[in-house]
Amino acid sequence: MSFETTKELANGSIIPRLGLGVWKVEDGKEAVNSVKWALETGYRLIDTAAAYKNEEGVGEGISQSGVPREEIFVTTKLWNADQGYESALKAFDKSLEKLGLDYVDLYLIHWPVEGKYKDSWRAMEEIYHSGRAKAIGVSNFHEHHLEDLLKDATVKPVVDQVEIHPTLTQEPLRRFLAEHNIAAEAWSPLGQGKILENSVLVEIGKTHNKTAAQVIIRWHLQNDIIVIPKSVHEDRIKQNFDVFDFELSKDEMERIDQLNTNERIGPDPDNFDF
Ligand code: A2P
Repeated sequence: MSFETTKELANGSIIPRLGLGVWKVEDGKEAVNSVKWALETGYRLIDTAAAYKNEEGVGEGISQSGVPREEIFVTTKLWNADQGYESALKAFDKSLEKLGLDYVDLYLIHWPVEGKYKDSWRAMEEIYHSGRAKAIGVSNFHEHHLEDLLKDATVKPVVDQVEIHPTLTQEPLRRFLAEHNIAAEAWSPLGQGKILENSVLVEIGKTHNKTAAQVIIRWHLQNDIIVIPKSVHEDRIKQNFDVFDFELSKDEMERIDQLNTNERIGPDPDNFDF
């Protein structure tokens, strides 16, 4: 199976299929270095959020990398406390300022805050029309949140970024997203590193001379899932990008699918308290 390293979103934006996630990456040197190493390696997608409190470091890393801004796809997210129409507009300005950018490629509602996400979405639509976010989408939305949002939306979300990894494969949600032309993007794609010792993944890796992390990343890619593994180590950042020279067979993909236990590592979007 060969595929492009980028994917066209429903609004025509082109997103790289593999990027660097920076949740839990410290602002300052750690963020600057991770982003620089990733861009040097060839990554062109960086995924941050206001809540990660490292937008300044991310922006600095982008600037220091020397890679032209237009070649990089930058995602950030609207935090829960800032949801609502006016506050979302203000929060977006603050994110741009911290990043040191005049636009982002993708702006996401971070979590479906009840009673607020529709007002937030009106602000997202306005930001989209202003050209300061080239695409807009959501994160942690279940099917029912999306159905509700789609009733009133004049601009459709083009991405839903949710927890997906071999022990939480989210097949029903992924089918719904595909039917609605909403791209699936995985957070904690490596299960936060907790499933890297899994014997099935390690064994499959051995037959391809790859690590379990590389096998998991390849599993996401072959499932048409945009994937943003996090690492602050240069060797791992490089390793995680070295996944375009091998292919998992149908049988291997199925063996990995069977690791699904429907268990979340993070909170359930129907039951979070932040
Ligand atoms: P570190 O940042 O110290 O490299 P996820 O993307 O699912 O949240 O997983 C991120 C976790 O997995 C982090 O703890 C990260 O640690 C670790 N990690 C990322 N890439 C690798 C790798 N190739 N090998 C081992 N651990 C990795």
